[in-house]
Amino acid sequence: MTLQAAIFDLDGVIVDTAKYHYIAWKELANSLGFDFSETDNERLKGVSRLTSLDILLEIGNISLPEDQKLELASQKNDRYVSYIEKMTPDEILPGVLEFLSELRAAGIKTAIGSASKNAPLILERLHLTPLFDALIDGNLVSKAKPDPEVFLKGAEALNIAPVNCVVFEDAAAGVEAAHNGGMPCIGIGQPQNLSNARWVIPGFQHFGLSDLQQLLNNRAKAR
Ligand code: BG6
Ligand code: MG
Repeated sequence: MTLQAAIFDLDGVIVDTAKYHYIAWKELANSLGFDFSETDNERLKGVSRLTSLDILLEIGNISLPEDQKLELASQKNDRYVSYIEKMTPDEILPGVLEFLSELRAAGIKTAIGSASKNAPLILERLHLTPLFDALIDGNLVSKAKPDPEVFLKGAEALNIAPVNCVVFEDAAAGVEAAHNGGMPCIGIGQPQNLSNARWVIPGFQHFGLSDLQQLLNNRAKAR
């Protein structure tokens, strides 16, 4: 592999939006008469909006027709958007800006590969839009992670072979999606939550291009 591009998941990698998803889902659950815990919220990371709603309704033991589900998903999204509209660049996770700048200065292309339909708004609120050469989000994909569609479309938009792209992901389904697309993947978070990732780092603080190259080179040697 020759490192030519880095594709980043957004939620949980660039910014911690899980807390806003949590409040919005919890408000919806409460309005339907049941509670929704932070542990329950873990199950929604990396999962599409409608599948998240299905999981939430299953927790509340509620079954509803499709049109009502769409209405509830839209209510949840309105609440979520009201929170993310207030986000500022201070919420970019530590080390992300430095790492992105270093990659770009070295001529490595950057893309977002996210399930979120709100990705453009989030990047705009964080002033990050100009730091990505391509944005593939929930509006452009039809198959959810672990299908590799989102990352393959990212590689295609950058015009880089998948094997020369590295993916950064905080959800196990996302790690699997990268592997399914033939891309090496670095997990972001705790190793116990990402047992399918070959490497897991806690975040981008104290992580630079030379650290990334070292990880990928060791992989090549092990082959
Ligand atoms: C993923 C999040 O990035 O996007 C999920 O991890 C979320 O929690 C999914 O459900 C879809 O996001 P949105 O913003 O389109 O509802
Ligand atoms: Mg994520």
